[in-house]
Amino acid sequence: MVREHLTGQRDMADSYPRSFVRRGKSLEMRFLAESSLSDLAVLQSLVVSTLHEIEIFMPHDEEYLSRIFQTELSVLGVLAEEKLAAYSIIRYPGMGKDNLGRDLNLSDEDLKKLAHLQAIAVHPHFRGFGLQRELAAAHLQVLERSGYEHICCTVSPKNPVSLNNLLSCGFRVRALNPKFAGWWRYILYKNKNWPVTGAAQAPIRDETALNCLNIEHQRWLIQRGFEGYRVEGNGEKSEIFYRKRSTPAMDSSSRIIS
Ligand SMILES: CC(C)(COP(=O)(O)OP(=O)(O)OC[C@H]1O[C@@H](n2cnc3c(N)ncnc32)[C@H](O)[C@@H]1OP(=O)(O)O)[C@@H](O)C(=O)NCCC(=O)NCCS
Repeated sequence: MVREHLTGQRDMADSYPRSFVRRGKSLEMRFLAESSLSDLAVLQSLVVSTLHEIEIFMPHDEEYLSRIFQTELSVLGVLAEEKLAAYSIIRYPGMGKDNLGRDLNLSDEDLKKLAHLQAIAVHPHFRGFGLQRELAAAHLQVLERSGYEHICCTVSPKNPVSLNNLLSCGFRVRALNPKFAGWWRYILYKNKNWPVTGAAQAPIRDETALNCLNIEHQRWLIQRGFEGYRVEGNGEKSEIFYRKRSTPAMDSSSRIIS
């Protein structure tokens, strides 16, 4: 099914590789084939070994990564002098148990139209160049053209840098649940019709700021119809701002029950 959707994306794939310069470094963004699997695994290991908090990033094994490479346009890389500096992975979970739409009580029909922005990682030498936002925006464009209506991803409340980047790509926090080894994860949601920009322009009703590590109070707010939409500060002092969700008429994800 995915391959059929992807046929309509050829024009976009043709606009790659895309060259750009960040802080004097020449970089190239391009879709990666399975021949890049070992480079990706090496970068993933390096990223894991330099994490300040082990629970903020869950690595994938090579078999899992290899399966992802079987779907075209699923792995996007940024290369510097032909070396992998960053990557982004998208995945189509289908009706699998791990479909993040289940955390949002999506209907079966909607679960089929949902894709995951599965993982993004940047080599420590290339951080601060905005590559996560750049990769997320490019992969969101792939999904937008593929007919997948709902996009979800997870972020640790201990990872305000990533949270900030994804919220500024238009995602909103719609759940906060224990995942993987029981690690807390925000479940971020974006509808394909929402713009890839910060959500801050929307009217703000009943805004509340909370420390990202205040799990219970955030869950309480989410249950009462609030969504997280921007973050301020860094480290343990990071605060996430919640606002009342839009009325169904203003919100194209109105079929989601929270
Ligand atoms: C999260 C991540 C992808 C962001 O990388 P990035 O796109 O380079 O981040 P940005 O360009 O937005 O950087 C924003 C700022 O945060 C800083 N920063 C980025 N990552 C940081 C980190 N892990 N710790 C502390 N500061 C960090 C940058 O230096 C930059 O500061 P500056 O604006 O003063 O230069 C990267 O930190 C990473 O790979 N982390 C490990 C894996 C991970 O967490 N992936 C996301 C899982 S949801």
